[in-house]
Amino acid sequence: MLSRKILVAPSILASDFSRLGDEVERVTSAGADWIHCDVMDGHFVDNISFGPAIVEAASRYTSLPLDVHLMIDHPDRYLERFMSFASSISVHLEAPHDVSKTLATVREAGLLAGLAISPQTPIEKIEPYLGAFDILLIMTVNPGRGGQAFLPDMLPKIAQAAIWRSQGGHEFHIEVDGGINARTALDSVQAGANILVAGTSVFRAPDAAVEIKQLREV
Ligand code: DX5
Ligand code: ZN
Repeated sequence: MLSRKILVAPSILASDFSRLGDEVERVTSAGADWIHCDVMDGHFVDNISFGPAIVEAASRYTSLPLDVHLMIDHPDRYLERFMSFASSISVHLEAPHDVSKTLATVREAGLLAGLAISPQTPIEKIEPYLGAFDILLIMTVNPGRGGQAFLPDMLPKIAQAAIWRSQGGHEFHIEVDGGINARTALDSVQAGANILVAGTSVFRAPDAAVEIKQLREV
């Protein structure tokens, strides 16, 4: 069984990239559980963020698990480049690739395999993959950039996933990503989420430790 405690995963997308190492150290000592790394390719999403070299550099400033979120086309082609320093890799259902095969490859490498869905994707689309992933990443904003407002219409998707998790005998984390602050974290956790990705709310908080504690204890 995977642990169901609430985990807070600050997204380095909201960090000051010119001081990435310090920023990763700062949220690590502020009590983060995982470090979330948003990889964007300019194809799957319009934005380009960073690739494996930057994630590897970040890994040298923390001993926390690195949670890699690939917002890229053909994620299967890039898995190996992250595997030696990532703990989990999430790939999008909407991206072109063989989803089952990609998830299996991540698991075979000993990492947690995540399946991510964008807001427009109905939750029913993940049903065929139940049992094949360790993390269901439900995007609560449109992928591509930080600082957007949480989409409350995603709450029923979280609740449905939690029902499958409790009924189906499949254990997995439900991770929410986008627009997470103390208020939207509470709604998400009440719906069934247990991993909270938070970019802006943690990195731009006056005190990251206070913010992380607040998120974890909603
Ligand atoms: C959006 C990314 C998110 C983003 C969250 O495409 O997947 O992880 O960084 O940032 P905030 O918390 O600012 O919405
Ligand atoms: Zn993300």
